[in-house]
Amino acid sequence: MSLSPSSQILTLGAIFLATLLLPKFLRWRARMVKLNAIPTVGNSGIFSSYISARRFKDHAMEILQEGYEKYPGRAFKVPFPDGWEVIVSGKTMVDEIRKANDQDLSPQEALTKILQTDYTLGRCVREDSYQIDVVRTALTRNLGARFEDLRDEIKDAFADEIPAKESEWMKVPMLYTAMKIISRTSNRYFVGSPLCRDPDYMKLNIEFTVDAFNGAKTLQHYPGFLKPLIRQFLTKVPAGVARAIKHLKSVIEERLRKEEEYGTTDWPGKPNDLISWLLDEANTEDRRKDIIYNIVSRVLVINFAAIHTTSVTFTNSLYYLAANPHIVQPLREEVQACVEKHGWTKAAMGQMRKLDSYMKEVQRLVGVSGLGMSRMAMKDFTFSDGTVVPAGTMVHTVSYALHHDAEVYEDPESLNAFRFSNMRVKEGEGFKHQMVAQDPSYALFGSGGRHMCPGRFFAVNELKALLGHVLVTYDIKFENNRGVPPPHWDGAGCTPNRTALVMFKKRAV
Ligand code: HEM
Ligand SMILES: *[C@@H]1O[C@H](CO)[C@@H](O)[C@H](O)[C@H]1NC(C)=O
Repeated sequence: MSLSPSSQILTLGAIFLATLLLPKFLRWRARMVKLNAIPTVGNSGIFSSYISARRFKDHAMEILQEGYEKYPGRAFKVPFPDGWEVIVSGKTMVDEIRKANDQDLSPQEALTKILQTDYTLGRCVREDSYQIDVVRTALTRNLGARFEDLRDEIKDAFADEIPAKESEWMKVPMLYTAMKIISRTSNRYFVGSPLCRDPDYMKLNIEFTVDAFNGAKTLQHYPGFLKPLIRQFLTKVPAGVARAIKHLKSVIEERLRKEEEYGTTDWPGKPNDLISWLLDEANTEDRRKDIIYNIVSRVLVINFAAIHTTSVTFTNSLYYLAANPHIVQPLREEVQACVEKHGWTKAAMGQMRKLDSYMKEVQRLVGVSGLGMSRMAMKDFTFSDGTVVPAGTMVHTVSYALHHDAEVYEDPESLNAFRFSNMRVKEGEGFKHQMVAQDPSYALFGSGGRHMCPGRFFAVNELKALLGHVLVTYDIKFENNRGVPPPHWDGAGCTPNRTALVMFKKRAV
């Protein structure tokens, strides 16, 4: 029997497609065979897993909790919106992730998948991520030297954003106000004044985080060759970068002019800020290429890592303070005593053990995410219990579930403000339980290892200065003495209620 011409074309087409898709299919099969060995939370049929992927968006916390309880210290898989991802818990597995090298489990590739880095934050920040070294070294080391500026900006930022009077309560939309204050104070440290106060620059740094996330969500649906076009026409990323260049170009050019004028990168009067620290590190020909765009991208990335996270942490801390007036007095007394002794300095912040404990405890109770560390398996990764995470699969540790484990924390659902400072007193251990410490029971900043958040020293010092200022300057409460509104979960991300108002009144002094 001979085939008609049209069915011949169809057959050829089918063979052509099959040869094109077969290798892809076989790779998918091989990966699925390996993944099938890992137990599933949610459903594992093709269609039902699609439904639970949708469910993950709204019920991530419950799904992660279910897996954590069913498979303690083991791995389970969860249908994320675009495929299976693996979740692990328990000290052994967490340690194995922490110790793995980037060629096996890559944090950069994880970020690239989540954030489409090349088309949002920029290829240069991924290929040569020296901005991370700058955060770890100069940005952290200069905290003492630059603390006065930070404090100065905090005072002015609150005076502008929360000009509450002694005579009446002022209602403040907390999360957005926190973002403005934190964008401004962080950027006093990063790029100096007056740029840090420029309303458009402040807004840009708040909006860029959201625009990059939304851009990534759009970009995820398109194949690689279309992404440059999609970035250009369907995301707000190029506009954000252009806006940042507009603000930062002349500042960077001025620094370059001075370098040239003095023939050295160490010219007199050089500002001690992020732009200088980045330029210091950009000490090779390669790193000096397209230098304006290069430095601007890194300033944007650091703002991206810093502002949303710190604002959420600050807002959570304020919400619990507004709802728990009995905690205010001991914290206020501690802040006043430390400041009396050391002034508003880094040394004073280091002495605020109760405040440190309180902030750590609030983030234990709510936090920023259901997940701790995220890595992409670059090759098949085998844990010591035999679990294999196939190449190309994301693996995460849990955060929220660990923080609410009754075997790790006594009475985990209630706020015990001085939980960690009491441990410090009881065990006589100065540093082990403080917020920035590597602590196997605490995953806010990751779980140790080379990639644990390098910005945490800056973040915690800034947060203490911010909360310390609120404590001595204002009385706060919720309207009608309401409690803390429940946070909003979107996938694994946790954000405090965006619209809740906190009432502020200036304290009489
Ligand atoms: C309360 C605020 C913050 C939270 C909760 C937070 C949380 C985290 C977490 C969970 C990681 C991943 C750790 C890992 O995968 O092992 C991380 C990485 C990072 N954070 Fe933070 N962060 C905060 C503030 C900051 C600030 C203020 C900066 C910069 C000034 C910053 C810069 C970074 C950078 C550059 C990395 C990547 C490190 C690497 O891959 O080696 N973070 N952060
Ligand atoms: C946020 O809190 C406010 C006030 O407590 C409440 O009216 C609103 O419904 C909450 N929003 C969400 C999304 O939970």
